[in-house]
Amino acid sequence: MPVVIPELCAFSLRVTLSPPFSEGKRAITAGKMNSWPHKNIFSFIRRTGKKYTLKICFCRLSLRIPTEKPLAGHEENSIMIYGYIIIVLKGFFMRILMIGDIVGKPGRQVIQDELKNFRELRSIDFVIANAENSAGGSGLTIENYQTLIRSGVDCITLGDHAYRQQEIYPVLEAEANIVRPGNFPINAPGKRLTVLPVPQSRQKYGMELKIVVMALLGQTFMKPIDSPLHAIDDMLAEIPRDVRIRVLDYHAEATSDKQVMGRYLDGRVSAVLGTHTHVATADETIFPKGTAFQCDVGMTGPFESIIGRRIDRVTETLRTFRPTPYDVAKDDVRINGTLVDIDHASGKALSIERVVVRASKK
Ligand SMILES: [Fe+2]
Ligand SMILES: [Fe+2]
Repeated sequence: MPVVIPELCAFSLRVTLSPPFSEGKRAITAGKMNSWPHKNIFSFIRRTGKKYTLKICFCRLSLRIPTEKPLAGHEENSIMIYGYIIIVLKGFFMRILMIGDIVGKPGRQVIQDELKNFRELRSIDFVIANAENSAGGSGLTIENYQTLIRSGVDCITLGDHAYRQQEIYPVLEAEANIVRPGNFPINAPGKRLTVLPVPQSRQKYGMELKIVVMALLGQTFMKPIDSPLHAIDDMLAEIPRDVRIRVLDYHAEATSDKQVMGRYLDGRVSAVLGTHTHVATADETIFPKGTAFQCDVGMTGPFESIIGRRIDRVTETLRTFRPTPYDVAKDDVRINGTLVDIDHASGKALSIERVVVRASKK
């Protein structure tokens, strides 16, 4: 269960004379409409939206105070005081956003234009983005890396196109906020996992939270590569036990591969979120032991396309077998991503939600 802390306490007191008790009861019912701070509470709930697991506790208090003689119109030598305490409890958890493959300039631009606002709007604590297609559709340049980090991405993951832009090698080695697939050969440039502090967690939650971000490649319909199942066992053994928030970007083609990985890691990581196909799947779920799962979170880039590339070029190549340049398309640009709420203490996922953000600028 998530740890809960009082977020808001409100107190309402209504004094009524007794007897008769029934009159007092009616007075309290009326008091709900008139004197309870319910309006403030409901506006608070609206403001916070889905960020909090809201629990409202109503506590009724009653106190009989003796009086020397009956008050006018009443028979008993006492007055009754009725009070209600309302406590709203906030679930103590963090929210991550996993963004699907960022494709080319349109993908980078929509991240620049929309991510910071969306982050604020949905109270997102940490953003992970797969950026393997950021540079003209293939790989990631140093400038792309800097742009994405400046635009609100906290950690970048890569897939089969990780090394298409060789200038990124030094960044992969030097920077903590970028990982390449963990089942690449041991000497491949870059890290297979990273442990990062969650920005602002000390201010928001009173302690510094940490998150592990990992990436792996699947085997089916992909270049030959080491077993991701063996690799993940190794990688998990490397993670400090107290870092419970663990997210894996599983970059794979086959949905069955992805389901195997999700089930294999159920209860061992917070989320297994797929990338690579550029098409979001509608299978988001939380497995029985608390791991959030989705086969693919989709693509960030132009949707008037064939998975990000110009429709005419891809069609022509398939129709005639004559190679054409698969330029990145331009229209209907969207961010595809998935939000996961995670209990910080156990690392278990509490909710998972697919999101789409459309580019507001043309
Ligand atoms: Fe890929
Ligand atoms: Fe991709």
